[in-house]
Amino acid sequence: MFSGHFVLVLLFSGLLSGVFSQSFIRIWSGNRNSENLDLISSDRKILRDDNLYCESWRFTVETNDAGLWEEVPKRCVKFVQDYMTGNGYGSDSELVSEDSSSFAATVNISGDGKDAWVFDIDETLLSNLPYYKLHGFGSELFNETTFDEWVDLAKAPALPESLRLYKELLRLGFKVFLLTGRGEAQRNVTEKNLLFSGYRNWERLILRGPSDVGKLAEVYKSEKRSDVEAEGYRIHGSSGDQWSDLLGFALAKRSFKLPNPMYYIA
Ligand SMILES: *[C@@H]1O[C@H](CO)[C@@H](O)[C@H](O)[C@H]1NC(C)=O
Ligand SMILES: *[C@@H]1O[C@H](CO)[C@@H](O)[C@H](O)[C@H]1NC(C)=O
Ligand SMILES: *[C@@H]1O[C@H](CO)[C@@H](O)[C@H](O)[C@H]1NC(C)=O
Ligand SMILES: [Mg+2]
Repeated sequence: MFSGHFVLVLLFSGLLSGVFSQSFIRIWSGNRNSENLDLISSDRKILRDDNLYCESWRFTVETNDAGLWEEVPKRCVKFVQDYMTGNGYGSDSELVSEDSSSFAATVNISGDGKDAWVFDIDETLLSNLPYYKLHGFGSELFNETTFDEWVDLAKAPALPESLRLYKELLRLGFKVFLLTGRGEAQRNVTEKNLLFSGYRNWERLILRGPSDVGKLAEVYKSEKRSDVEAEGYRIHGSSGDQWSDLLGFALAKRSFKLPNPMYYIA
């Protein structure tokens, strides 16, 4: 599905003469995940410096400029590892959490019990970092068997910044909906894990039922939000580490993207 083509076009316009002259310069077109970037333009610093390149790569995946991407580029595995296990991930999560709280504080809670916030679970409320530490930080192809074994352990820790936000939202009077791509078969272990890591008093846990199997996450999640809205809830905020948590229809008034440079779910 990933076409892998990225074309950067610069447009120069002739301004002085009043003649509209333009030339298109194709800097580069090719698979961005390929390892031959520096062959194409060895004089450009970004392509030689892994750290600089990976900072820019991370920008493009977090903003969704990159669209669907399938694995962490080989040259960025160490970068992602350092980000996830160092201070970067926590710091970014902290600021996202603070922005979310600031917005939540501006919402007028009506008192009818219909003011809602939607959370994704994996890499939003719960961290699967202990799993990904053993599986290349997203550089290995996703293995459903081993991942499900990890989920069944119900030992994923909370993202501390999300747990803090979650408690704050409950305190403010929001109803919290948990909307996950996990399936109904994982309901019990998911509840067990949420309780294990400190989450309490959610309004509803929504998982993929039989009729949701095979749907794109963006469609499935939009439909479920739409159902919640049809019950009269006002979805003020939505938190997720994937753009498919935050795009589509029946959108929250504000959506908050948490960092995740390890994987992309369409
Ligand atoms: C909340 O209510 C106050 C007082 O009615 C009003 O001034 C304010 O604009 C409202 N805020 C929002 C976000 O609707
Ligand atoms: C997933 O991991 C298991 C256990 O290591 C292995 O047997 C299986 O072949 C892997 N599946 C894929 C699709 O890689
Ligand atoms: C989940 O737990 C309930 C009771 O706690 C049990 O009846 C049900 O069979 C369990 N479901 C699964 C899929 O294990
Ligand atoms: Mg997630």
